[in-house]
Amino acid sequence: MHRIEFTLNGERLELDVEDHMTLLELLRDRLGITSVKEGCGIGECGACTVLLDDKPIYSCLTLALKVRGRDVKTVEYLSLDGRLHPLQEAFIKRGAVQCGFCTPGMLLTAYSLIQSGKKVDEDTIREALSGNLCRCTGYIQILEAVKDVAHI
Ligand code: FES
Ligand code: FES
Repeated sequence: MHRIEFTLNGERLELDVEDHMTLLELLRDRLGITSVKEGCGIGECGACTVLLDDKPIYSCLTLALKVRGRDVKTVEYLSLDGRLHPLQEAFIKRGAVQCGFCTPGMLLTAYSLIQSGKKVDEDTIREALSGNLCRCTGYIQILEAVKDVAHI
């Protein structure tokens, strides 16, 4: 067991984790944050995406120990003020949520891109979202929703 301290959605946490525990296991099984989905478990689907220091990572491939002293955000962060984030509103408006399994990861990846300050265009959105798979929407509605928020 190792004691780690990190920030989760703006709150400082301190807890003990096993050497082999993944961040996905820590978030879902220990902390009950079930918005972080387990899809493939091998770094291929993006369902388990969270932000580590504001960059998207696959939590299924990340050891919990690695977040020591760092900042972790899950999709709950986007509506901490009690209101849906514009990206969430746009996903609803554009019909970009069907089964919803990919949605938390998609939202976090899109949020990271928009917050990054980089120039955002259709190509950069497609590239950013290329690590998040969706089996339902065909991607067009998701792309349109992110473009709405990026004002392109
Ligand atoms: S569950 Fe992590 S990438 Fe699929
Ligand atoms: S909405 Fe079902 S996987 Fe994307």
